[in-house]
Amino acid sequence: MAIELAEVYGEDKEKAAFAGLIHDIAKEISKEEGEIYAKKHNIEVDEIEKFQWGLMHAKLGASIAKERYNVDQDIQKAITYHTTGHKDMDRFSKIIYLADKIEENRNYEGVIELREIAKTDLDMAILTTIDFVLNKSIKMNRLIHPNTIDLRNQILKEKSE
Ligand SMILES: [Fe+2]
Repeated sequence: MAIELAEVYGEDKEKAAFAGLIHDIAKEISKEEGEIYAKKHNIEVDEIEKFQWGLMHAKLGASIAKERYNVDQDIQKAITYHTTGHKDMDRFSKIIYLADKIEENRNYEGVIELREIAKTDLDMAILTTIDFVLNKSIKMNRLIHPNTIDLRNQILKEKSE
C-alpha cells in the first residue's frame, strides 16, 4: 500500500517500501526493554505514552531504524508519527500513516472506500481514518493522544481555507 500511494503522490517508492516494511520494528519490544532503550537514547516518554505504552513503539522504532539501517529523516519522521499522527506530518509521513491503516490485511467497515479515497485525497482519507480511530478509542475507553486531535484540527483548518 505504501508503494501504491507513493506512486500516486510522486514520492520515492523504494523509500516508501522500506518505511512500510520497518515501521513496526519496535512492536515486539517489551515495556521493560523499551524503557531501558528510551532512557539510554534520551527518548522522551510523554504522559499518554507512559499510560499507554504500546504507543511508544513508534518513537522507539524510529530510533532503532536509524541505528540499524541508518534511515534518513523522512523515514524516521514517518515511523515516529505512524501511530498517533502529528500535525507536522509531511506527505511522505502521511503516506506511511495511511498505508498502515488501510493495508490489505485491514478489514473493517469502510476500509474499501477508504482505499479509494486515499488515492485521490490523502488528507480526506486521513481525516476519515482519524475519525474511525477516535470512535474506536472512545468505545474502548482508551486514552486519546493530543497529536491525533492536533492533526485532525490541522487538516480541518486547511480544508476550510
Ligand atoms: Fe505500528
